[in-house]
Amino acid sequence: MEVIIKQDAEEVSNEATSIFRRQLRQKPASVLGLATGSTPLGLYRRMVAMAQAGEVDFSHATAFNLDEYVGLPGTHPQSYAAYMRAHLWDHIPMTRWHIPDGTARDIPLHCAEYEAAIRAAGGIDLQLLGLGSDGHIGFNEPGSSLGSRTRLKTLTAQTVADNASHFASPAEVPRHVVTMGVGTILDARHCLVLAFGERKAAAVAAMVEGPVTAMVPASALQMHPVCTLIVDEAAAVQLQRREYYRWVYENKPAWQRA
Ligand code: F6R
Repeated sequence: MEVIIKQDAEEVSNEATSIFRRQLRQKPASVLGLATGSTPLGLYRRMVAMAQAGEVDFSHATAFNLDEYVGLPGTHPQSYAAYMRAHLWDHIPMTRWHIPDGTARDIPLHCAEYEAAIRAAGGIDLQLLGLGSDGHIGFNEPGSSLGSRTRLKTLTAQTVADNASHFASPAEVPRHVVTMGVGTILDARHCLVLAFGERKAAAVAAMVEGPVTAMVPASALQMHPVCTLIVDEAAAVQLQRREYYRWVYENKPAWQRA
């Protein structure tokens, strides 16, 4: 895993933007895996700016989102579909985007179809991930099978509390989601995890330097051949080997830079 430590959230977003820019320039018909939450907002703002400046062409790309709340239609303002439209899809010329349907009648069937659609698109080239403060990726909460596929998950009380600020009250936060599984995420050719703030520091350390365990689903990324983690200084404070990660980054060969 490559660990990149940047000064602050702005720099994290800049670095992530460079990775998306390079991906789309090298392969305009890329299949992107996308996330919601507060972490990607700076990256999405920059992606919109890139598209509007004509720096990158999104029109050949396809996107699959990680997850959606069960019970919220895509028209609900707190649905992840609404989030994606507001922050990205309404502003870039990308027409092939997919997100799980939280109102599907037959959730297991819908999940199997979502997996099939990812396969039919050729698999995900670049998967963006935020990191839960409990070590989740997607909504694979601690204890999730590291081989899991897209399915229904029950959120933990901590995740419900973390997400409550987006709803009128914690009681309104749905308890269930449809999420890509850890195994689905690991199939992506390149995984890109972003994290900032001290609130994420323990999860970052457990993901990078702890044991690979279902108790920290993000630790499964240690098994991924091409995983990049970009964190700010605050999220890096608990990393034992942070000086080595900085050294590796400073000495990165020019051809490997985004
Ligand atoms: C969102 C998702 C989640 C978030 C994670 C971090 O699609 O899959 O794993 O990435 O909960 O959320 P934020 O970015 O709000 O801290």
